Amino acid sequence: MTITSPPTVRPRRLRRNAALRRLVAETDVRPRHLVLPLFVKEGLAEPAPVPSLPGVVQHTRDSLRKAAHDAVAAGVGGLMLFAVPATRDAVGSAATDPDGILNQAVDDVTAEVGNDSVVMADLCLDEFTDHGHCGVLTPDGDVDNDATLARYADMAVALADAGCQVVGPSGMMDGQVAVVRAALDRAGHPNVAVLAYAAKYASGFYGPFRDAVDSQLTGDRKTYQMDPANAVEAVRELALDLTEGADIVLVKPAMSYLDIVRRAAEQATVPVAAYQVSGEYAMVEAAAARGWLDRDRVVVESLTSIRRAGASLVLTYWATEAAERLL
Ligand code: PBG
Repeated sequence: MTITSPPTVRPRRLRRNAALRRLVAETDVRPRHLVLPLFVKEGLAEPAPVPSLPGVVQHTRDSLRKAAHDAVAAGVGGLMLFAVPATRDAVGSAATDPDGILNQAVDDVTAEVGNDSVVMADLCLDEFTDHGHCGVLTPDGDVDNDATLARYADMAVALADAGCQVVGPSGMMDGQVAVVRAALDRAGHPNVAVLAYAAKYASGFYGPFRDAVDSQLTGDRKTYQMDPANAVEAVRELALDLTEGADIVLVKPAMSYLDIVRRAAEQATVPVAAYQVSGEYAMVEAAAARGWLDRDRVVVESLTSIRRAGASLVLTYWATEAAERLL
């Protein structure tokens, strides 16, 4: 077949070379957009690699400070701290102990980089309970929403007292943002921000994370985390968290939930964060280790796609490395 009239509209004109492509790129990922999740474990003598998360370790208090420093030197926008305590109990006492490992870690990291980056902490009980659930249990073994809220209120104040600038309630209890906000305000921390895990799904992609925190969970979290089948429900959760005073809203996981990230970006009048979770990281690392993917390319492509969907911030285990590459 001969082409009688060649096209006059040619989108390829703007793809011809790297300079043109750079000029018209709609989305970019800058180091400041990235937040690095970090794990610290009480009583550890040496950093301990997490086998299902190649490149990620459980830190000692010293190695945590160093990792925080390196991330911030690379320009990473923030740090999200998780901690594994030496002892666990039914109510997660270590979470509210001012000398508990998470509160100590917040204090350490704030002293190290608090002027140059944003120190955040996961506000949840699952690392601290001996049953591994995100809250306290009723005698029947259900997660008791309102009793858990009282623990979250105390934990928020303990984190803020330790110097935390942003707390991230991630337990998906009803009313958690309002309770945390009120507790912070009552305790004289009106300027501590709440990053609300607004749409957090009951996801199989959290598997490697549970290794990273030595999770004690048997069963699942389906009575509090969201059903992956639901999107309208995410809109409702987002609206509730905004009403309750969330300063930032988060969608989690990210890559299988980009439609939810987009909806959040359209609905929210606050910054939207997305968490590229442990299983998303592990999938790419595992495929790359077999030579099945170009790792460096896929890392940046995945982060770009999350930004393109509408996330202002991306929590990712690649934050330091990606920031170094993007600087
Ligand atoms: C709960 C929490 C989880 C993750 C972050 N906060 C685990 C869960 O809900 O089971 C998962 C993060 C990841 O997979 O990278 N404190």
